[in-house]
Amino acid sequence: MTASIINGKQVSEDIRTGIAAEVKELAAKGVTPGLAVVLVGEDPASQVYVRNKEKACHDLGYYSEVHRLPASTTQEDLLALVDKLNKQDTIDGILVQLPLPGHIDEKAVINAIAVDKDVDGFHPVNVGNLVIGDDSLLPCTPAGVIELIKRAGVELAGKHAVVIGRSNIVGKPVSLLLQRENATVTMCHSRTIGMADIARQADILVVAIGRANFIDASFVKPGAVVIDVGMNRLENGKLAGDVDFESVKEVSGPITPVPGGVGPMTITMLMQNTLIAAKRHHG
Ligand code: GUN
Repeated sequence: MTASIINGKQVSEDIRTGIAAEVKELAAKGVTPGLAVVLVGEDPASQVYVRNKEKACHDLGYYSEVHRLPASTTQEDLLALVDKLNKQDTIDGILVQLPLPGHIDEKAVINAIAVDKDVDGFHPVNVGNLVIGDDSLLPCTPAGVIELIKRAGVELAGKHAVVIGRSNIVGKPVSLLLQRENATVTMCHSRTIGMADIARQADILVVAIGRANFIDASFVKPGAVVIDVGMNRLENGKLAGDVDFESVKEVSGPITPVPGGVGPMTITMLMQNTLIAAKRHHG
């Protein structure tokens, strides 16, 4: 059996079409969603991500500001910029691109972003609201994972989801969102014993462990849904997921490729969060 491929690019475009329609409705009321992106330093991957975010804003008719600051920027200056953006009415969402240079305390910067403008969903108040199930801005990649599963027509309630990886930005929040959808969730991580045996019990397997091609067919129950959040740059320059796509697709059910699976969803969910924030600010 060859699995069906979940096309993250297509799903992403479908969602953006819906967002564009809402932007038009808001424009009629004189409201334009606004996103500020802050990049400190010259990390090449971050520069690409920031350009893509700027382009997504432009394509959807958002107001956008990109603040490119030198690597030598002090924490004090960065916090002053965040404070200014917190108070700026044209800005609904603020994203400070990570990682930050070593001399800057990332936590202090995240904590300084206004909770209602934290479109990354990284502020501890938004994280706490996610844990207790209250309204919050959801972290983009985990929210994208849930959207992909739902839009593939997969029922989550009562299913066994296994999440591999326990990071704050993917593994932990994705497990909470899966529970919110009434899945039964097991978490595995680098210290788990018997990971393949546990993973093989999954109806839905979400992998975010950061090791290229780590998950082969021996981890996958026939027909299981496989979502690969991995983005690993190989020595030959190619991008590889955490899942060995070629072998796993022979046994799995619907599966996401890398690239073209979860990746395109992250910026789309950022755009969605910015729209939600704009509606809350100006609704
Ligand atoms: N760097 C890599 N991914 C992300 C992300 O989702 N948000 C921010 N702020 N920085 C990142």
